[in-house]
Amino acid sequence: MIEDLPALVAAAVSAVATAATTDELRTLEQTHLGKEAAVLQARKQLGDLPKEDRKDAGRAINEAREQIEAAVEQRRTELASSERAAQFDSERLDLSEVVVGERPVGHRHIVTQAWEELEDVFIGMGFRVAEGPQVETDWHNFDALNIPPGHPARDGFDTIYVDHGESGSTLLRTHTSPVQIRTMLAQEPPIHVIAPGRVFRRDTADATHMPVFHQIEGLVIDRNISLADLAGTIEAFTTAYFGSGFSSRLRPNHFPFTEPSAEFDIQRPDGSWLELGGCGMVHPHVLRAGGVDPEEWSAFAFGFGIDRLALMKFGVDDLRELFTNDIRFLSQF
Ligand code: DAH
Repeated sequence: MIEDLPALVAAAVSAVATAATTDELRTLEQTHLGKEAAVLQARKQLGDLPKEDRKDAGRAINEAREQIEAAVEQRRTELASSERAAQFDSERLDLSEVVVGERPVGHRHIVTQAWEELEDVFIGMGFRVAEGPQVETDWHNFDALNIPPGHPARDGFDTIYVDHGESGSTLLRTHTSPVQIRTMLAQEPPIHVIAPGRVFRRDTADATHMPVFHQIEGLVIDRNISLADLAGTIEAFTTAYFGSGFSSRLRPNHFPFTEPSAEFDIQRPDGSWLELGGCGMVHPHVLRAGGVDPEEWSAFAFGFGIDRLALMKFGVDDLRELFTNDIRFLSQF
């Protein structure tokens, strides 16, 4: 059998080289290198050989085994890389694929559409757009707006505080009204601005509430501004935005940052009323907090939600639809 080693090795090496899969190779490895393999069985004959020949024969058997092992290893490497390549190929995603012909085109979200239309209407009336941060100080959001610590109006705003600075000093703005303060501190009157933006309250999401929503604020500071200017501005806005069949009214209300304060409603052509927002003559405390002298200047302000307008305009009945970003919903508008 020892004389047969070169032939055994040659047969094993050529069998191994043609193994088509790693499974097949494993079987061949068992046949040619396992306990029952001819090459290893040859060891058993060593004892029958004359002593002086045993060493050479032993070495020949080891070499034969090593040659077969090397062939198996080489084939295993080849198969592993080709099997991996086949797997990559089958799992491949063609990211270079291009849509030919008509390409789907996106559009602005319906809240953005309402927001931009509101901006257009107010810009047409002579307003400029002002901005403020969404992460706001407690002072800008409350104190400066005549809502000191402990004021019951604070309870009305389910405030989300931010863990930054002194406890309770930083929050997500609960309304766009702090932009009034920031604008007064940054610009000299006369001021005619609107401030659309995102606001936050600790609300559970349902059809009419979301913890994140949008408001638009208005602020006019000039000499001899009266409640009549406020009412006229609201009325002009109503017909410009909703159409000529719509009108507005003010109803007495209370806000800490305005005195007097009112709620304003819009009347639809069918006679029904829609409650839109709050407004009033800016409280002297608020003007002073913004560095504006209430003896010299007077001001009015208003604020209302944008999302409800978008819902109404597009005939949507659940506020949550605006935030799910479901393309099947959004692509309808
Ligand atoms: N900031 C008020 C809110 O979020 C809305 C509001 C009321 C804004 C009266 C005003 C205003 O500017 O004058 O509920």
